Amino acid sequence: MKEKYAKESFTIMNELVLPNDTNTLNNLMGGRLLHWMDIAAAISAQKHCNRIVVTASVDNVSFRHPVKLGDVISIEAQVTRAFNTSVEVRLMVYAQNIPSGTRVQSNQAYYTFVAIDQNANTITVPQVVPESDDEKKYYNEALQRRELRLLLAGKMKPSEATQLKSFFAELAQNAVE
Ligand SMILES: CC(C)(COP(=O)(O)OP(=O)(O)OC[C@H]1O[C@@H](n2cnc3c(N)ncnc32)[C@H](O)[C@@H]1OP(=O)(O)O)[C@@H](O)C(=O)NCCC(=O)NCCS
Repeated sequence: MKEKYAKESFTIMNELVLPNDTNTLNNLMGGRLLHWMDIAAAISAQKHCNRIVVTASVDNVSFRHPVKLGDVISIEAQVTRAFNTSVEVRLMVYAQNIPSGTRVQSNQAYYTFVAIDQNANTITVPQVVPESDDEKKYYNEALQRRELRLLLAGKMKPSEATQLKSFFAELAQNAVE
């Protein structure tokens, strides 16, 4: 299967925060943001896989700043790495207030999608070719994140998490030096 460049999956989605998206404090509701992030990430994963994809998991998401009514949310999504039938997508979320000219990073997250065929069977996806330094960094680190999420989901045995083992061994080694 032909490999694809990471940048081919780059996606930007913008949303204006309207009254129906907010809580009683006029702040964007977290669930609404997660919904938009899921859509942006799914578009990015589909661009890479050229297939229908389903969300397999969402890594921990924290909300750094409240996003206010009238702000513009920009979600940037790009595939970091493909495995066998799944891809990891990195999301960066920014909140912009156009009248005041401010723009802050609201949060970031990693979503995992699995490609499926018309019969809902999982199918192999193209591998990712990272080009920039950042893309190479996210690509290399993706193995550790994958092991962590599969361990937490009970889909991997601790003895199989070799990347995490080396990561923690290196941390411990640095701590004694
Ligand atoms: C995601 C799903 C297709 C995985 O199916 P499964 O039978 O568990 O498949 P497998 O164990 O063979 O795993 C298939 C891939 O999913 C990945 N996967 C499974 N669970 C995962 C999890 N919790 N986190 C990350 N990846 C996961 C596996 O690592 C594997 O990827 P790989 O082939 O690249 O190694 C299946 O659980 C599903 O359809 N879930 C519902 C999806 C959905 O409806 N999402 C919307 C939420 S409402």
